[in-house]
Amino acid sequence: MIDWRNPPKLFIPGPVHVLPEVLQQLARPTLGHRLKDYSQLHSETVAMLKKLLFTEQHIFLSTSSASGMWEGCIRNCVQKDEVILCTSCGAFSSKFASVAKSCGRQVEELKVEWGQAITAEMIDEKMATGKYPILTLVHNETSTGLTNPVYEISKMMKKKYPDVLVFVDTVSGVVGLPLHFDELGWDVAFASVQKAFSIPPGFAIAAVSNRALKKSESVPERGYYFDFQEFAKVEAKDQTPTTPSIPHIMALHYQANRFLEEGMENVWARHKKMADYVRNWGRSQGFEVLPEEQYASNTLTTFKNTRNIDIAAVNKALREKHNTVFGNGYGKLKDLTFRIAHMGDTQMADLKELLGWIEEEIN
Ligand SMILES: Cc1ncc(COP(=O)(O)O)c(C=O)c1O
Repeated sequence: MIDWRNPPKLFIPGPVHVLPEVLQQLARPTLGHRLKDYSQLHSETVAMLKKLLFTEQHIFLSTSSASGMWEGCIRNCVQKDEVILCTSCGAFSSKFASVAKSCGRQVEELKVEWGQAITAEMIDEKMATGKYPILTLVHNETSTGLTNPVYEISKMMKKKYPDVLVFVDTVSGVVGLPLHFDELGWDVAFASVQKAFSIPPGFAIAAVSNRALKKSESVPERGYYFDFQEFAKVEAKDQTPTTPSIPHIMALHYQANRFLEEGMENVWARHKKMADYVRNWGRSQGFEVLPEEQYASNTLTTFKNTRNIDIAAVNKALREKHNTVFGNGYGKLKDLTFRIAHMGDTQMADLKELLGWIEEEIN
């Protein structure tokens, strides 16, 4: 019987399972957001996030889910007469394009089939027209379990189109996958915390470049809640423009510290190891990974349902017997694929248990 007080352990690609010790961080006594205690929490958290994202530029803490930052980067950094090249390889990258349109901006989409990657060559061909001052990318497309070759893309962009601003949705990439913000030359990269940070949903972070912040000065009608200039005004005081979700920031502080202690190279290696394990398991069971091997994500795996199993029935059984669920396919891939998250605080032992239970149901 469904009871939200006793939810299943989550192997869906977000929100993911949260450790009890992380949940406890959200129950700490609250702080006054204009008092020095909060500023201490804020400055320590931002300093750790800068290390996690390899940036010395700006980190803004947003009391919103990541969707707010889709809107934030567009409304802050794109003039109405500029054309944005939005790359689209699945549900979330397409949504980024539609959000840009809904903000009244001009968008052209560079689209590939779901499950395929956006490559540097494809972007180069479009950028060569000289038409686009802005590019949007998704680091890790959660609907298809695909990681775009963002290092290659960024190398090409920096070399050939250094003046183009690059906005990156790294919602299901951040922490689980390498991300060197300054070296990549990105202008805005944002993520929510319910994926690899393994924190309950409702909060987002954004890295913002100096030049993106500068550009926002000249863009009219930026709104208020996501106005980068408002964030910048209180940055030196280690505050946010409005009352933030302080419990989320406490949890973020705790998790950022844990990831730094583990070491980012180790965190990424752990994700790769879990991903390899899940992919090999799936292949041994007769399932194909949806993206090509070189683009398969290390934070979640999407399998084609090549054996035509009844995904809903397997999940129902897992829920009844083990109070656990994994992800079905997203949107138009609902019954054609299924997804298993292996990010954040998930460990190999958790995955082995889950995959064993799935095997019992399908064989
Ligand atoms: C790649 C990607 N971008 C954006 C979003 C939207 O994030 P949120 O639900 O935190 O607003 C998601 C949510 O799953 C996502 O996976």
